[in-house]
Amino acid sequence: MSEVDLSVNIGNLTLRNPVMLASGTVGYGNEISEFIDLKKIGAIVTKSISLKPRKGNKPQRILETAAGMLNAIGLANVGIEKFITEKIPFLKKQDAPIICNIAASTIEEYVECVRMLNDEDGIHAFEINVSCPNVNEGGLQFGNDLNMVGKITEKVRANTTKPIIIKLSPNVAYISDFAQAAKKEGADAVSAINTLVGTAFNIKTKKPKLNNITGGLSGPAIKPIALAKVLEIHRKVNIPIIGIGGIMNWQDAAEFMIAGASAIQLGTVNFIDPTASEKILKGLIDYCNKNNIDRISSLTGSYQLD
Ligand SMILES: Cc1cc2nc3c(=O)[nH]c(=O)nc-3n(C[C@H](O)[C@H](O)[C@H](O)COP(=O)(O)O)c2cc1C
Repeated sequence: MSEVDLSVNIGNLTLRNPVMLASGTVGYGNEISEFIDLKKIGAIVTKSISLKPRKGNKPQRILETAAGMLNAIGLANVGIEKFITEKIPFLKKQDAPIICNIAASTIEEYVECVRMLNDEDGIHAFEINVSCPNVNEGGLQFGNDLNMVGKITEKVRANTTKPIIIKLSPNVAYISDFAQAAKKEGADAVSAINTLVGTAFNIKTKKPKLNNITGGLSGPAIKPIALAKVLEIHRKVNIPIIGIGGIMNWQDAAEFMIAGASAIQLGTVNFIDPTASEKILKGLIDYCNKNNIDRISSLTGSYQLD
């Protein structure tokens, strides 16, 4: 059996394979490195980092739902200085390709973050989070505003030489408009999707179960929505897409690539099975071998609509 070429190009970024770990679900890699060999994955996207450390929201901030989870973490993170001094060295030692996810509440803060991180040679690309539903400033205020997404992309582009990926919100009518705005201002790729706004109530107390009232829904429940968003972007905008949302196994990953994704990210599944990424990669390789696919990238957008 010939070896499948697993490499994928996402704009100027080449990854050894399309299986990535999604922001916020594996922290900065420390814990998950006890279960998987980070060298073997396409890339790890680190927890959203902000200029200053953030404690995030008060508990309860995570909840299981019928087919996924609601989270309202509120972007708790160590802040950029600690990220540079403590987190990047660990990941570099693992030889893990790092994509650094950045969150901010002003355009200037995004710019400051990419400036501070631009010379870090361990960082392969930036993923710009304009779509967190769990914070008061920034977050969805940005992700729902076409002009803002364009502006953030433009300013970040002007301040880094590294590839930039804009992580889009599904909480909009036409996600492809946002992908177009990101492309126009120089983004190399988009990630789709972040979580969907959801909530849950305690029927005894009649209070919301989450301290933040609402949270972001992730997991298998959102997969069909995420697939439709990926397909919409692929049909309307010529930009590489990283597909995210409810991927639990290799079949789901293949589905996202067929719908138009150049690579995929795994989120909620990491909490259920921290070795899922290795299994999913193996499943994709077997699928390619069985179907005489010699380059995995040929799966991208291979849907047959008629
Ligand atoms: C507990 C938790 C924390 C998350 N934190 C972040 C974050 O800090 N930044 C971000 O861009 N996305 C964050 N996400 C969203 C995921 O990266 C991903 O887009 C989403 O969960 C959908 O994928 P999934 O259904 O495979 O989990 C988080 C998701 C979860 C479940």
